[in-house]
Amino acid sequence: MTVLITGIGELTTNDPGLGQLTDAALVLDGDRVVWAGPAASAPAADNLVDVEGRAVLPGWVDSHTHLLFAGDRTAEFTARMAGQPYKAGGIAVTVNATREATDTELLEGLRRHLAEAVAQGTTYLETKTGYGLNTEHELRSARIAAQLADEVTFLGAHLVPPGWDADDYVDLVCGEMLDAVAPHVRWADVFCETGAFDEDQSRTVLKAAAAKGLGLRVHGNQLGYGPGVRLAVELGAASVDHCTHLTPSDIDALANSNTVATLLPACDLSTRQPLPEARKLVDAGATIALASNCNPGSSYTSSMAFCVTTAVLQMRLTVEEAVRAATWGGARALGRESGDGAVGVLRPGSRADVHVLNAPSATHLAYRPGVPLTHSVWRSGLRVK
Ligand code: NIG
Repeated sequence: MTVLITGIGELTTNDPGLGQLTDAALVLDGDRVVWAGPAASAPAADNLVDVEGRAVLPGWVDSHTHLLFAGDRTAEFTARMAGQPYKAGGIAVTVNATREATDTELLEGLRRHLAEAVAQGTTYLETKTGYGLNTEHELRSARIAAQLADEVTFLGAHLVPPGWDADDYVDLVCGEMLDAVAPHVRWADVFCETGAFDEDQSRTVLKAAAAKGLGLRVHGNQLGYGPGVRLAVELGAASVDHCTHLTPSDIDALANSNTVATLLPACDLSTRQPLPEARKLVDAGATIALASNCNPGSSYTSSMAFCVTTAVLQMRLTVEEAVRAATWGGARALGRESGDGAVGVLRPGSRADVHVLNAPSATHLAYRPGVPLTHSVWRSGLRVK
């Protein structure tokens, strides 16, 4: 069954050959895009949807979330707004609540947050373990995440659980825990930060994960300057996420690497950190992604549009750069930007992930901050809004 989406006022494809089109159309066949181009030359299809001059983008690719959790940290947020600093130790509160939750509660929480994201135009989403912090609960989180998320990352090295010696915990993560979780995930991550894991411990975790065939990601440079970016580049990680505090040599290292700098502006606002230097990264030639970091502690939003708006209004990206970072950039951070079934792009052969805005151009994402602009969404060819 083919669907012709026509009447597109502005079509962002992220495809270098197609570029950005006006008066455009798309044809979907099952879960794939099979045609994109000027509306006047569109082929016939079984069904026709006229979007009446609206802008169309690839669905958002949210490449960094933590949605396997239970409990609530409103009190911590309120204390932060009253001046308390954000500390990694708050993670332990969510670990306790998550361990107490049933499988059904965790699955339904994930389903609810995913539905919330999809309704706002997110069509491809990564999520992580990291609120289990023992073998039983990390494995449980990975299995539940794999039921609904497009990509799952093992983050056993999120925090040293209270009462543990850090090196003993790293041994557990790299041994029994990794053995149990690796078959259920594609990626491994480590929180390389003061108060979490130091450079040597982070390197140990990442090397053990790479030896198991997992792709690497790093939480780095979130709360201060540190070794996270350097380590991610050294080990060829697909992305280093946060990048809030970067030295000129961190920016150089990213610009000369294939590691994507994933920026999480909603988190920086919620934790009262400075916003990352997106302009400097892009001007230096680094590849960036924007992601929500949806989690109950540091960034409780699933709104990719909010991240894009912030990136334009406060991080000095152009609309085009910010939209690309939240679509193609996220796909690149997940190694899904090319080939058959690529996401974050709209071209023949890509996954049929389509986001129609209730606006004539993507510029309205920044021009009309805070206004919900998602009109309709196709995810893998299915109309979900
Ligand atoms: O990406 N930085 C570490 N992990 C999460 C925060 C998790 C939490 O506070 O619960 C983050 O911000």
